[in-house]
Amino acid sequence: MSESTNIFPQFDKNVSQQGKELLLKQRAICLWFTGLSGSGKSTYANALEANLHERGILSKLLDGDNVRTGLNNNLGFSLEDRKENIRRIAEVNKLFLEAGVMCINSFVSPTFESREEAKSIVGSRFYEIHVHATFDTCAKRDVKGLYAKAIAGEIKNFTGLDSPYDVPKIPFLTLDTEKYSFEQNFKTLMEACLPLIKK
Ligand code: ADX
Repeated sequence: MSESTNIFPQFDKNVSQQGKELLLKQRAICLWFTGLSGSGKSTYANALEANLHERGILSKLLDGDNVRTGLNNNLGFSLEDRKENIRRIAEVNKLFLEAGVMCINSFVSPTFESREEAKSIVGSRFYEIHVHATFDTCAKRDVKGLYAKAIAGEIKNFTGLDSPYDVPKIPFLTLDTEKYSFEQNFKTLMEACLPLIKK
């Protein structure tokens, strides 16, 4: 990939992020759900998007389904490709946040390194949420049937099996989907997030 030269980004030339947030009556933050495949990230991310919409808060939900079928359709699941996946998504977050729109991200984002990179691209408005379930629990749930395939050796580089998952050390929030019900976790999530978003 060649590096761009003679590029002069002037994101805030006319209307500032603050002006856009004022217009939308919200604070644009980045909520970043990380966890194993099948841990429940998308369930919380989708429910959050719907709940915020009801409250008049504009957000963009980014997940493997919409990002890996378009922008990142040239990337696979090697650690290098996952890193690039996350880097591009973080850059997309940055653009949405500059437009005053909050982002809800649902990505395995398995390594400390790539989550740190995302954090450094997005800045202080990055909030990491760990959706926890053990590998065995996710394998039992196997919503997409991928665990059975991975265990049978039909999928290579599968997170938690032959590809690593670094458990976040100090996340903003942990939602333990083994210990607590969806309702309990969702309440915790809303109580933690709403004060950050409301203007
Ligand atoms: S990430 O590692 O680059 O952050 P991402 O969240 O975009 O991954 O995509 C993960 C989703 O892709 C999983 O939920 C699963 O549906 C699917 N998938 C396909 N192959 C793999 C694999 N080898 N490891 C993990 N997930 C995979």
